[in-house]
Amino acid sequence: MPTVRKLVATVLTPDFRQSARLVEEEIPGPGPGEVLVRNRVAGVNASDVNLTAGRYQPGVEPPFDLGFEAAGVVEAVGPGVERLAVGDAVAHSTLGGGFRDLAVVPAALAVPVPEPSAQALSVLVSGLTASIALEQVGEVQAGETVLVTAAAGGTGQYAVQLAKRAGARVLGTCGSDDKADLLRDLGCDRPITYRTEDVREVLKAEAPDGLDVVYESVGGALFDTALRSLAVKGRLVSIGYVSEYVDGPERVSDARVYHRLLAKSASVRGFFLPHYARHFPEHMQRLLALVASGELTVAVDPTEFRGLDAVADAVEHLHSGRSLGKVVVWLD
Ligand SMILES: NC(=O)c1ccc[n+]([C@@H]2O[C@H](COP(=O)([O-])OP(=O)(O)OC[C@H]3O[C@@H](n4cnc5c(N)ncnc54)[C@H](OP(=O)(O)O)[C@@H]3O)[C@@H](O)[C@H]2O)c1
Repeated sequence: MPTVRKLVATVLTPDFRQSARLVEEEIPGPGPGEVLVRNRVAGVNASDVNLTAGRYQPGVEPPFDLGFEAAGVVEAVGPGVERLAVGDAVAHSTLGGGFRDLAVVPAALAVPVPEPSAQALSVLVSGLTASIALEQVGEVQAGETVLVTAAAGGTGQYAVQLAKRAGARVLGTCGSDDKADLLRDLGCDRPITYRTEDVREVLKAEAPDGLDVVYESVGGALFDTALRSLAVKGRLVSIGYVSEYVDGPERVSDARVYHRLLAKSASVRGFFLPHYARHFPEHMQRLLALVASGELTVAVDPTEFRGLDAVADAVEHLHSGRSLGKVVVWLD
């Protein structure tokens, strides 16, 4: 039986380091319809702290496995698997399948990729979220103005480029000048560095008729500003609220949200990737082709994290706001 080294949550808390523990255990090989994957690179997501906090599976009791996604090489195939063979590079996204050196994955969920790279890996959660949310929920149209928050992050960088490809004018918020430079390279029409600029004033000047679509993942004051800046029939797609993941919800007192929406026929729409599974294959193929051809750039954060011992550092790096592009951990 193969031995797996993996991170498990030991206590329900958004403090990833406090919760995560490295354990070793023997696992059975792949069963019917499954493959055994040796993970080479795992993706770090803002929601890794939501997973340790138990927010993904209400009522869950520790210990449970951590990490959302990884890319690696098929090491064994179970009975009945014909689509994949030993040696194939695949990426996969399952709850708990990321922060471990070996993963047994249903073959149907192992996506063939050219190589187990950080770029290919990033398509799974970061890329799919932007692609499906903008198209299905934001309903972005050519000629519209789109605001992306955390625009230089793992999923934000996809949203910027995909909204541009859809023919929109794209504004993007970020926390530093090096991120603003990255955003310019990615085609963002107006990076907004929220630490040094007044976002509301920039939006008034850059989008006097308001924002048609917002791809919003930060929450807090930035959400409020984006909401106030919507155009007539504007759509704010709430895909996350990273500013509240560690410290919990901020209690606010203001007029109810309809005061901001009705007179503009505007809307706030939630998006949660697992609810859109039927769109995965189409968007996955599209994104993989765009990444392979170089039409989509995937920036990978330059800070190198290696081994399962480094995962907590990587998670904290993402939440420090200093990361640039997709944060990954190399496992081999
Ligand atoms: N709904 C879904 O299905 C789904 C799927 C994937 C991701 N998401 C969401 O997408 C968002 C981005 O996730 P990601 O994994 O790609 O992370 P990321 O964007 O690579 O990293 C988070 C970024 O958020 C920004 N940020 C702003 N205020 C922050 C604060 N108070 N604390 C920490 N970060 C702050 C920082 O960039 P700046 O300072 O430059 O803004 C930081 O770099 C998260 O809200 C996540 O939950 C949702």
